[in-house]
Amino acid sequence: MLGSRVQFPNLVSLRSEPVSEPRHFQTPNRSTAGRPAVAEPCILVIFGASGDLTKRLLMPAFYNLVCDGLLPDNFAIIGMAMDSLTTEAFRDKMSADIKQFSTRAQFEQEPWDWLCSRLYYTPGRFDDDSAFSRLRQLLGKLQSQYSSGGNVLFYMATPPSVFGLISDKLEKAGLNDTATGWKRIIVEKPFGTDLNSAIALNREILTYWKEEQIYRIDHYLGKETVQNIIAFRFSNGMFEPLWNRNFIDHIQFTVAESVGVEGRGAYYDKSGVLRDMLQNHMFQMLAYLCMEPPGSFAPESVRNEKAKLLGSIRMMDDADAVRRNTVRGQYGPGAGLDGKPVPGYRQEPSVPPNSKMETFAAMKVHIDNWRWHGVPVYLRSGKRLWKRGTEIIVQMKSAPDVLFRGTGVESLEPNRLIFHIQPDQGIELQFQAKTPGPTMTLQKVDMRFNYGEAFAASRGTGYEVLIYNCMNGDATLFSRTDLVETAWRIVQPMLDLWQSDPVDFPNYPAGAWGPKAAFDLIENDGRKWVEVLNRETLQQIPLFHNADPILLSSLIMALKPVVFKEGDCVIRKGEMGRALYIISRGQVEVLDDSGSVVATLPEGSFFGEISLLMSSARTATVRAASYCDLYMLEKADFARVLRDRPQFLESLMEVASNRYNIAVHAESLMHDEAPAAGHK
Ligand code: BG6
Repeated sequence: MLGSRVQFPNLVSLRSEPVSEPRHFQTPNRSTAGRPAVAEPCILVIFGASGDLTKRLLMPAFYNLVCDGLLPDNFAIIGMAMDSLTTEAFRDKMSADIKQFSTRAQFEQEPWDWLCSRLYYTPGRFDDDSAFSRLRQLLGKLQSQYSSGGNVLFYMATPPSVFGLISDKLEKAGLNDTATGWKRIIVEKPFGTDLNSAIALNREILTYWKEEQIYRIDHYLGKETVQNIIAFRFSNGMFEPLWNRNFIDHIQFTVAESVGVEGRGAYYDKSGVLRDMLQNHMFQMLAYLCMEPPGSFAPESVRNEKAKLLGSIRMMDDADAVRRNTVRGQYGPGAGLDGKPVPGYRQEPSVPPNSKMETFAAMKVHIDNWRWHGVPVYLRSGKRLWKRGTEIIVQMKSAPDVLFRGTGVESLEPNRLIFHIQPDQGIELQFQAKTPGPTMTLQKVDMRFNYGEAFAASRGTGYEVLIYNCMNGDATLFSRTDLVETAWRIVQPMLDLWQSDPVDFPNYPAGAWGPKAAFDLIENDGRKWVEVLNRETLQQIPLFHNADPILLSSLIMALKPVVFKEGDCVIRKGEMGRALYIISRGQVEVLDDSGSVVATLPEGSFFGEISLLMSSARTATVRAASYCDLYMLEKADFARVLRDRPQFLESLMEVASNRYNIAVHAESLMHDEAPAAGHK
């Protein structure tokens, strides 16, 4: 059956013959025409049912599927775990948990009652034969009660170390027999901890199951915005011709998390961000963004292209290549999003005080194929960063600036296509527009599509579509053996070197933008990470507290992030100023000619404005007194903002004249930048 049904991955299957009729608590405003069919009948067995995954994600996902009328009547769930619960107690526990973890705007009792009445529980250890005979009995009973046709889906919500053990017991109990109905397993990450363990785990599982029975889940592929990458690429004629080395300069993937390890220190200290995020979730997105168009949306067709893409990534085949192309970091004590102090990674529960585990990683990869030769791809992810945000930036090559020479335009910004994956969901195209007025000046502007404005879909967990597709035998969104092993092969040299190379951790404070070295990684290539800012972030800076929305929008486009380590010189006396700096995090010191500190500037203040306002050399040297995250506003953008927003100029002048006791004149700066185009 696998591969026989051609469908768009994950827009739930449009099978022509529903197995059974959708139930009546279908959301009333949903049209019947074109509605996806209910999933195939089955009994779903969750191993590890008393754990976090079941209550936080799986149960809310089943509940969403019920509310959307996508589960068949011939369906029930058996939970199995070591806790000695009864079916009644399991139902009570799930009924309490769903109220907390449901993702729907309003909780509806009726669909939950429907689902709850189909929950069963059998206690048992995974090494206990008698537990599996009890499971067999219960399965047999429910199969006839629900007429589920012998189909069984086993969900391993357990550590990978017991996948083999559970499979073995299932086989001994005759529960993986496909003579009567299909049998499938869903396995959760981590799928191995390195290349060898992944190969061993694959071998072990493949002794009990055929490849087409194994569904390796990656919850990123359940995200609408991730699935939309291929919809966007292949349903719009205008982008695909540009999607190659002739037009694209480079690509950036960022997955920033503001949370720490959230009580998972014991797991995380064996994993780190490379295993936890890059090897799986980020490589999946990379494959979608860069793969060749598949022959069709048949599962194997898509999976082949993804595997081919990852297979084209250049291996870092010696320690030097790893050192040149990767950076790792670990957070120290700092502040959370609310500004309250939070501990460093080494102070988190269950983390050794001298842990070398990375909570941040950045890497540059090359895809050695015809389409992408010479286009670097930069990836970074970390915990306890300054915001939560997943974004993909596709940066086009800049247009030649010949036409604009001699005008007020200093340089042309490249066009960027930005995929906002989460929490913002949408797509943005950045380009330049002429600023209104008699002279030729440009401003970066954007066109945006927002999911929330275009669609009225209920928020899900991302697991709905994965479970639904698995019940229908559609493996498009699941990882095949070769893809998983290739992904491990790519990161293995990093795992090897990072184990032995010394580290200087922590190297970024909690709540910061990440280690300085990650900025050097991309800046050494003459490029910059694109930080996606928003109004809320900017409004935290005192200078912008009451700023009007147009000023904020233009600053969002103009501000560039820069990071300095303690002791780094940010500006040097006597140099011509090219930028103004705003301190997002940390402190800087202003030095006099003898090198003594004459002032310390705290978070939220700014510096470097004098030489811009007066078009003169820097009047003092400024040095980072601690790790610093700074927003940089370059001279041309500064001049434009001042011209457009006189109030901003006034606040700057006020601070500058109080601080330095000098009268400053903006005219010089404004004339310095603005006149050329109109007058030449
Ligand atoms: C999980 C990781 O796979 O993904 C977590 O184990 C991480 O550490 C999570 O926080 C991120 O998922 P999402 O959907 O919040 O981006």
